[in-house]
Amino acid sequence: MAPRFWTALCAFTLGHAVLAAPQLAPRATASLDSWLATETAVARTGILDNIGADGAYARSSKSGIVIASPSTDSPDYYYTWTRDSALVMKTLVDLFKNGDTDLLTVIEEYISSQAYIQTVSNPSGGLSSGGLGEPKFNVDETAYTGSWGRPQRDGPALRATALIAFGQWLISNGYTSTAADIVWPIVRNDLSYVAQYWNSSGYDLWEEVNGESFFTTAVQHRALVEGSKFASQVGSSCSYCDSQAPQVLCFLQSYWTGSYTLANFGSSRTGKDANTLLGSIHTFDPEAGCDDTTFQPCSARALANHKVVTDSFRSIYTVNSGKSAGQAVAVGRYPEDSYYNGNPWYLCTMAAAELLYDALYQWNKIGSLTISSTSLSFFTDLYSSAATGTYSSSSATYSSIVSAVKTYADGYMSIAEQYAYSNGSMSEQFSRSNGSPVSARDLTWSYAALLTANMRRNSVVPPAWGETSASSVPGTCAATSATGTYSTATNTNWPSTLTSGTGATTTTAGGTTTSKTTTTTSKTTTTSCTTPTSVAVTFDVVATTTYGENINLAGSISALGNWDTGSAIALSADKYTSSNHLWYVTVNLPAGQVFQYKYIRVESDSSIQWESDPNRSYTVPAACATTAVTISDTWR
Ligand SMILES: *[C@@H]1O[C@H](CO)[C@@H](O)[C@H](O)[C@H]1NC(C)=O
Ligand SMILES: *[C@@H]1O[C@H](CO)[C@@H](O)[C@H](O)[C@H]1NC(C)=O
Ligand SMILES: *[C@@H]1O[C@H](CO)[C@@H](O)[C@H](O)[C@H]1NC(C)=O
Repeated sequence: MAPRFWTALCAFTLGHAVLAAPQLAPRATASLDSWLATETAVARTGILDNIGADGAYARSSKSGIVIASPSTDSPDYYYTWTRDSALVMKTLVDLFKNGDTDLLTVIEEYISSQAYIQTVSNPSGGLSSGGLGEPKFNVDETAYTGSWGRPQRDGPALRATALIAFGQWLISNGYTSTAADIVWPIVRNDLSYVAQYWNSSGYDLWEEVNGESFFTTAVQHRALVEGSKFASQVGSSCSYCDSQAPQVLCFLQSYWTGSYTLANFGSSRTGKDANTLLGSIHTFDPEAGCDDTTFQPCSARALANHKVVTDSFRSIYTVNSGKSAGQAVAVGRYPEDSYYNGNPWYLCTMAAAELLYDALYQWNKIGSLTISSTSLSFFTDLYSSAATGTYSSSSATYSSIVSAVKTYADGYMSIAEQYAYSNGSMSEQFSRSNGSPVSARDLTWSYAALLTANMRRNSVVPPAWGETSASSVPGTCAATSATGTYSTATNTNWPSTLTSGTGATTTTAGGTTTSKTTTTTSKTTTTSCTTPTSVAVTFDVVATTTYGENINLAGSISALGNWDTGSAIALSADKYTSSNHLWYVTVNLPAGQVFQYKYIRVESDSSIQWESDPNRSYTVPAACATTAVTISDTWR
């Protein structure tokens, strides 16, 4: 995304600052809920507009190529970055898995494009000689040969993660041979790169520091761990993943300073940097609890660091003036930043929110939260009498803290709302002095950041990546490397239909074909299939209950009792365990139905407690081939 190699651009920067918009009056903003309801649609469109060859702003890009922004000068971001594209595509895969089936074609096209782009020789090397670390390419899939901060070693790891996310969907829906034949060869190259080069220096995600970067190391560890599992699922193995992952985790520990997470080795800056917030949210594993070793979002390390990083922007931006500790602020990349004069970024501000939404999800799931001496200062800002200890979700202290954290997290999203254009467009940055949008327009990564933060806010979390089996830190760290397998991924012949659930027996069409053509059959077949009239909607809600209490579902439509608590639907607790307080029910609803709902708690004496406002809202997907969908909520 929009990380820029600033030394190459500083000449523009100075000229540009002079053009900053006049002081803006604070804009009256809608409630965050109603803004998000429209902004999520703007963001989804904003992403698709930036993907070739059908995207409105990406018509001259090859199919499946994600541009960083439509901006072609001051700055020129009309290129495809491996990192940005992978983060954006991971977001689309998550939306797809949650029922947005229209995204299938663009996901397939992206994967096909990456099979080819891996083979393009570039200034970082060829496929098996370091070329996968090349940060950006021209939109026609040729190499960018100008000077740049290269290599950048997070790209292959993030691409592996995005592809594995889709590969997991293929496997769960009976298309294991497609995962093995099309997805795995591309992933294998990326994992081979990570295993070989994780212990070599490179440029960070902002394309400025040549050294070692927390974000890069964190996403590399994740990729190797889930890569090994994916390999075995497709009938292969990844011994080089297995040998390197523990050492990557060992090295990851060295970024912890004792009070915050150092963003980079190899820089003279303080190391306080949104790099570290992004590292935690992109390695979030809902099964991992609040583990410090992988800097999980609710870990003491991540929370202490959240305070240090966000505080570093409090006094330096005019737009943050008067906001004391514990109040949400505009967040930039790092306080010393001077690119475009050094401004807050939408994606960094929303990362600060997302980390807190992840933490809230975990505390509710675990049923308690723990304050340690490391994280105490984070909590004290939000709840002045906070003290070290563990607080059960049934305690008043827990409720007060969770409510304060939710308000704090929403505050960051509200800042993005306040400084986005009123039509919802989001650029890369907004001015530190008056909040007006700055630098590249319609930044693809800004939109992905909005969508992931919104999903976490709604307790929609990604699947586990295997953290719990990969959190044991070796006693001694070693400088290591392993050689994997590089080979051109030749098969991009997608099956003509891919459907969830029942299509389980359909497998790869023409799986042995070796031509490098991208099939377009999926486009035709997915749009011509029949839209289901009704969809099985499963409501999952994590709600901590005591014996005798029940959870019901009430809503604005007759199937949910038209808000009449006497006609509300009872949820089942038969999957409720001490570690997962899950209530659920499946209701068949008309495709396209828009409705509002809330959960209600029914006490043993039949008295009723409604969830707190606002009402939840949902639209049943009316997409081709979607027959079942799951909503994941947390009681509030
Ligand atoms: C390689 O790993 C060793 C052991 O963790 C570490 O001390 C060293 O800084 C690492 N170097 C790079 C470039 O990652
Ligand atoms: C949104 O508004 C801004 C400012 O007026 C404008 O530059 C931009 O093109 C608009 N975006 C869209 C998608 O219409
Ligand atoms: C939720 O919906 C009910 C029924 O339409 C309505 O009375 C109530 O005001 C709504 N709550 C909020 C916060 O909008």
